[in-house]
Amino acid sequence: MPVRINPSILSADFVNLEHDIARIATADLVHVDVMDNHFVPNLTFGPQMVGRIQAVSPIPLDVHLMIDDPDRWAPGYAELGAFSVTFHAEAAADAVGLARKLREIGARAGIAVKPGTPIGPYLELLPEFDQVLVMTVEPGFGGQSFIEAVMPKLEALSDVVKRLGLDVWLQVDGGVDERTIAIAAEAGADTFVAGSSVYNTGDPTENIAALRAAAGR
Ligand code: DX5
Ligand code: ZN
Repeated sequence: MPVRINPSILSADFVNLEHDIARIATADLVHVDVMDNHFVPNLTFGPQMVGRIQAVSPIPLDVHLMIDDPDRWAPGYAELGAFSVTFHAEAAADAVGLARKLREIGARAGIAVKPGTPIGPYLELLPEFDQVLVMTVEPGFGGQSFIEAVMPKLEALSDVVKRLGLDVWLQVDGGVDERTIAIAAEAGADTFVAGSSVYNTGDPTENIAALRAAAGR
């Protein structure tokens, strides 16, 4: 099973982003958290910054939109050249229509669910998406604890992906470290976002390698 490690630059130094992106050269994708202070109680950056990140990053971008009205704003991130654009199910008016638009522009389309949002209604829509992000913390902040209780959602998703032979990546985000990554991988995740555990201690390259090894076990 391929394992993708996507470090979150939410834990990077915002005034030295280019430098901090260079420190994760062994990552698969750069996870970029866009927050609007409305959908979540925190604020990061918008299209202008993401455009600059896209311009300087040697690694493709995995954009996670924690914003209201993604129907209006998400296509702009695909137009900037993001590899994948993930919006929240709770915020989208027309999730399938938006995913189709993102694909048309050339991005992989992702849908995210908060810990309390059931996955059932989305299982039959899976062919419309390229990625499902199962949040393992309440979105908004780095450094929170992994919520293991959401693992059944990954198991349900993984069953459908296997049964239908879909190319849908199953991503987890929040509290992912060397211990919890193994739990998520076991439940069926293949794409792992990690902020604190990559940036906050030791060397990012070694941390990425350790996460990759732990996910593969
Ligand atoms: C939280 C963000 C995450 C965050 C994860 O809402 O979506 O991407 O950076 O941070 P850690 O890995 O520290 O939980
Ligand atoms: Zn995120």
